Amino acid sequence: MMIDSWEKAMSAEESRKAMKNDSDLLWEEPSDDGPEDETPVVDASLDAMPDKVSIQEELRRVDKLYGEALGYAHGFIDDVRNGKPFDFNEATPLVNEFIDSVFRNESAAAAISKLKAFDEYTYTHCINVSILAVILGKRLGYSRDRLELLGIAGIFHDVGKSVIPEIILNKPGKLSKTEMNIMRTHPLRGYQILKDQPGIANEVLRGCLEHHEKFDGSGYPRGLRGNQISDFSRLLTVVDVYDALTSKRVYKAPMPPGKVLGMMYKWRVTDFHPNVVEEFIKSLGVYPVGSFVRLSSGNHAVVVDHNTSDPLNPSIRVVYDNKMHQIPMTTVNLSDKDVELKITDVINPDEYKVDIYKLIQ
Ligand SMILES: [Fe+2]
Repeated sequence: MMIDSWEKAMSAEESRKAMKNDSDLLWEEPSDDGPEDETPVVDASLDAMPDKVSIQEELRRVDKLYGEALGYAHGFIDDVRNGKPFDFNEATPLVNEFIDSVFRNESAAAAISKLKAFDEYTYTHCINVSILAVILGKRLGYSRDRLELLGIAGIFHDVGKSVIPEIILNKPGKLSKTEMNIMRTHPLRGYQILKDQPGIANEVLRGCLEHHEKFDGSGYPRGLRGNQISDFSRLLTVVDVYDALTSKRVYKAPMPPGKVLGMMYKWRVTDFHPNVVEEFIKSLGVYPVGSFVRLSSGNHAVVVDHNTSDPLNPSIRVVYDNKMHQIPMTTVNLSDKDVELKITDVINPDEYKVDIYKLIQ
């Protein structure tokens, strides 16, 4: 299946620049852009079961849960920063509630993490990575027990950043060589912090230590390659990059999820294990819920639900005309046979001061 507008949404040069400018990812120039003429194949053979509840219903529930999770993240990150003890087991009930949410509706938890104007990346990132890892793990057929462990690994993958000076963590612009070397100690520092936790699983420790390793061996801290990198780490690295690039940072605006997925697809051959990016795209949809898009009619719309059997044609809510004037809202399922509308572009809603969260409810 060809994906025209989506793959072209961001040029290879733009995407490379975005990654290099992200001091969290510390992205190195890959040696190979990957085949430019390939387009993602969206295979619906692994379709999930239909959602049990509507996204609107689950958004209300998960909104509250996300707030609680953020409170928890503040607690443990500040404790580690201040040298106080913490217990990783306290995160387990939260992780289980997010897993329950994902099993009720696959899109709501991922959407909430992007739709609300949260400013505190340090705290939101660990929660978002946990949620997204659970969604991807579910897609890959992980058991409930492994999803719980994976969710825990997501919450604590960056715990080592708690001991990195904030002046480096939040520095706008490029890090100096020395600063970058300090930043690159965070997986090992995290591993050292976590390994003293009684009963912590080896997979969680490895997820923390290896989440910046890359498939082609160009990652850090150990330059592991291919199957030397643990299962959890392969998933975490994908969702970590996605959340970093789609989040607002002190030094950059968020990028639209649909564009980031297109970009990650281009980089999949060097940085990520085969098929993990593809499965992640399938689990979020080519245009994740909450994407702001332009239509072939010129009107603008918000993606309100994805169709697992037709990922290029989600359900949308048309909200603005071609001049961004509000029009009466209509919901359209683009996969309906008699609908000829198509998505032609992914737009950054911030550029138009559009509050997606309000429009989706
Ligand atoms: Fe990290």
